[in-house]
Amino acid sequence: MTAATAHLVLIGMMGSGKTVVGRACAERLGRPFLDTDELVEAAAGLPVPEIFAAEGEDGFRRREAQAVADACSAREASVIGCGGGAVLDPRTRSRIRQAGFVVWIAAPPATLAARVGSGAGRPLLAGAPPSAELERLLELREPAYRDAAHAVVDSEGRSVDAVATAVLDAYAAHAEQP
Ligand code: S3P
Repeated sequence: MTAATAHLVLIGMMGSGKTVVGRACAERLGRPFLDTDELVEAAAGLPVPEIFAAEGEDGFRRREAQAVADACSAREASVIGCGGGAVLDPRTRSRIRQAGFVVWIAAPPATLAARVGSGAGRPLLAGAPPSAELERLLELREPAYRDAAHAVVDSEGRSVDAVATAVLDAYAAHAEQP
């Protein structure tokens, strides 16, 4: 893998902005954007909540690990947005780090909660109030995000464009390293 062919991989919690920021980065780089939730849905022929209902979280995670592997093996250098829980699998963490430059888009729980609203379409937020569940999940997952990421970009109080600029600056700095 050379810097020029490496994927740009975005990780982070639900509501961190991976999809909108990823699309903005892909547009500026003139690269495809691959969203692992969309890949899972296309392979299963079902939306994410129905996969959780039919196969449980374990079934979804197996499909997600495969989707990340498929995205990472794309021949064309791409921007890849990973579902929030993809990094829980240690093999996935090492796979994305090998496939490219990994950026954790971070935000505090209150901001994540404001962005996801009622949590519709996100099965993990269907039980408890989204803000409490996001806080719990973030605490649990923080070590995995830290372990997987080459860089962290804070999205708190910043526009999508500003976050995309920060991500691309970090990516460019990495690509310039000898
Ligand atoms: C999940 C995040 C969702 C989706 C699924 C589970 C998670 O993706 O993969 O509902 O475990 O955090 P986004 O992070 O794109 O919302």
